[in-house]
Amino acid sequence: MKNAEIIAKLNLEQKCALLSGAGTFTTRGCPKAGVPSITLSDGPNGVRKQAGAADHLGLNPSVPATCFPTAATVACSWDPALGEEIGRAMGEEAAAQEVAVLLGPGLNTKRSPLCGRNFEYFSEDPYLSGKMAAAYVRGIQSEGIAACPKHFAVNSQELRRMASDSVLDERTLRELYLTGFEIVVKEAAPKTIMSSYNLVNGTYANENAHLLQDILRRDWGFSGAVVTDWGGSNDHALGVKNGSTLEMPAPGGDAVRELLAAVQSGKITEADVDARLDELLTLVLDTSAAVQKHSRSFDADAHHALARRAAAESAVLLKNDGGILPLAAGARVAVIGDFAETPRYQGAGSSAVNSIKVDTLLDCLAQSGLQCAGFAAGFDRQGRPDAAKKAQAVALAQKADTVLLCLGLDEIKESEGLDRVDMKLADNQIELLQAVEQANPNTVVVLNAGASLETPWLAHCRALVYGALGGQAGAGAMVDVLTGKVNPGGKLAETWANAYEETPAKDNFAGAGRTVQYREGLYVGYRYYQTAGVPVAFPFGYGLSYTGYAYSDLKATADSVSLTVTNTGARDGAEIVQVYIAKPGAEIFRPAQELKAFARVSLAAGESRTVTLPLDDKAFRYWNTRTDCWEVEGGRYEVRVGASSADIRLTANVDIRGTNAPDPYAGKALPHYKSGSVQNVPDAEWEALLGHPIPQDKVKIDRNMTLGELNHSRSPLGWLIWAVLTALLNASFKKGKPDLNVLFQYNMPLRALAKMTSGAISMGMVDGIVMELQGFWIIGLVRVIYEAVKNQLLNAQLESRLRNS
Ligand code: BGC
Repeated sequence: MKNAEIIAKLNLEQKCALLSGAGTFTTRGCPKAGVPSITLSDGPNGVRKQAGAADHLGLNPSVPATCFPTAATVACSWDPALGEEIGRAMGEEAAAQEVAVLLGPGLNTKRSPLCGRNFEYFSEDPYLSGKMAAAYVRGIQSEGIAACPKHFAVNSQELRRMASDSVLDERTLRELYLTGFEIVVKEAAPKTIMSSYNLVNGTYANENAHLLQDILRRDWGFSGAVVTDWGGSNDHALGVKNGSTLEMPAPGGDAVRELLAAVQSGKITEADVDARLDELLTLVLDTSAAVQKHSRSFDADAHHALARRAAAESAVLLKNDGGILPLAAGARVAVIGDFAETPRYQGAGSSAVNSIKVDTLLDCLAQSGLQCAGFAAGFDRQGRPDAAKKAQAVALAQKADTVLLCLGLDEIKESEGLDRVDMKLADNQIELLQAVEQANPNTVVVLNAGASLETPWLAHCRALVYGALGGQAGAGAMVDVLTGKVNPGGKLAETWANAYEETPAKDNFAGAGRTVQYREGLYVGYRYYQTAGVPVAFPFGYGLSYTGYAYSDLKATADSVSLTVTNTGARDGAEIVQVYIAKPGAEIFRPAQELKAFARVSLAAGESRTVTLPLDDKAFRYWNTRTDCWEVEGGRYEVRVGASSADIRLTANVDIRGTNAPDPYAGKALPHYKSGSVQNVPDAEWEALLGHPIPQDKVKIDRNMTLGELNHSRSPLGWLIWAVLTALLNASFKKGKPDLNVLFQYNMPLRALAKMTSGAISMGMVDGIVMELQGFWIIGLVRVIYEAVKNQLLNAQLESRLRNS
């Protein structure tokens, strides 16, 4: 049946009902009209389908599935073909489990190394993120189901994640935070996209006409369904009007009545509802048919092998003094570090997969041909000093040729719902490294963490291999790299700064209140360090190999770059060739150089190959805020081809015809944006870039007050709830494991009570609570009780009408 025929059969109430979820991960159906219900599941690095009690925080277990390396890891492969294979495998597992929409990949731009969810995002660079995410989407959707790239948009922190307002200038929005999504939408046609929790320039992303209508649907031609993040709908009717298709999870009858009333009052039209319904029906009919005919099984061993290959391709060799790696066959190694026995291989929160099996470094070493001199945990995982563990490790280190020291971040450090407090490795791990190195200088550090770290301890190891969060087969992959079975070819998808204080958004990241000021503008990651001349520990795009590569014969035009790459060593390998575009002496300020093309080139020992990399429409463009268009500054550009952003091997000039647009910054004093030194941009200069005054940041007692702000309310009940939540949170931190549920509630606005309780709480009740918090204790309470009774009655009537119609 065609969408239009179905729509014609439904009454307005039924139509409105279909635009919000039935359960935590299911949509409403209308069998009589031929509309099935579908299942959506996380996530970005493996399927997390919950068969039993469902939650969106990774708390309850899910059906076992392959845990692939997280996005931060696979980004280091710079290999879209690999991303597509992973996507296909995840899509296959999802469809086998009757999941119609897989909620991933995540591709938010890594604005700061401290964002708690960086492990599930690809890169600080939108071009690399976009290309990798597009590959995942193609792979997932090749199984007939839908991918759901997320979180659209400018969602780069966890603090106050459901109520923070990302304030930024239009050029930064377009060039840095939207380009990745633009690539995904235009190159991979995702069937859905997830709007983010936050506001963008004062309007919630999910009801933001500029984002959803002007940019996503009109400029990029997206025709799929926009799905809210879980509990991320603020004004459902406005969402529907402005392009958001499906509210999740299950807001109950209240959301249906809200839409009905909005149509009746003229706030939105029935045509708005029909337009969204049309998008939803296409999704539902298309994917449920694919799920129905899909096989119910998949080859778990093959997927494990793929996960291992992916982790090995993504491992980054950061240091290898004297060629201590690869380890010779039969070498006697001491294995030290808790992570060798209990691997840290994925992040926490909604992306957490119930892995089919998990390899450990200890088990994989036993099958590697290396001799194991023994294992010592070496340190307490939660950072407490433990002299006995350290002494044991030091004694063991003395008995081996080489020490494999497994260090990294523990579970509390990186999680959805919680930003990192610093970029440091725990002190007890650094102390252990120093002691072990004294006992045995042949110390190789194997590092597992989903984000960049400060490395002041680097001199204490001879080699450093970054395995990121390698998924369920990550340990085996690491052994392959250590023994040379795989020649490491990964390169960093994120800059490793020397210290957090040197990162561009250090004073503005996360923000003290609801308003988050993106003052650093375009200068995120290498765009900042290279423009402002700030030295870093490891540059973007950096990674070593067991062989060497030579670059020659560069030819560049406006459309493509070609060059010859030669493997000059004795081992087969893969080199990641990176093309950066620079415009020395540009009129319109811009970062010193930007990634505009890349290729991973496999080369046998001694082999030479000519590679051609196309330059697309993104190579020379910039967003002009005066013409509101992409424009090109005319003149001479430098094409820089490098082995990393800081290791440029070849350059060529190309002359590009410009679009002769007026200078959007004429007459404005923007010295910090011209020099790239953006750590301390004064208010006036930032306002000049923004084009309006900096928004005021005040805690308001309204539907959007978070539970963590209740101490600002005028109600003893509010203060009590705040005190209890704060105590629970602090206690969970002390125990070493943040309580994600409490954290979620802490950062949750009051209105989400009506969105996350399956209809038990209505928005009317929330308004009663708001009155209570404003100090109208009695009226507030009476209103809550009245609205609760009304809600129960109306919900029962509505659900019965929907069932019987
Ligand atoms: C996360 C999303 C996730 C959703 C469903 C939210 O809390 O932000 O990334 O897909 O929950 O679990």
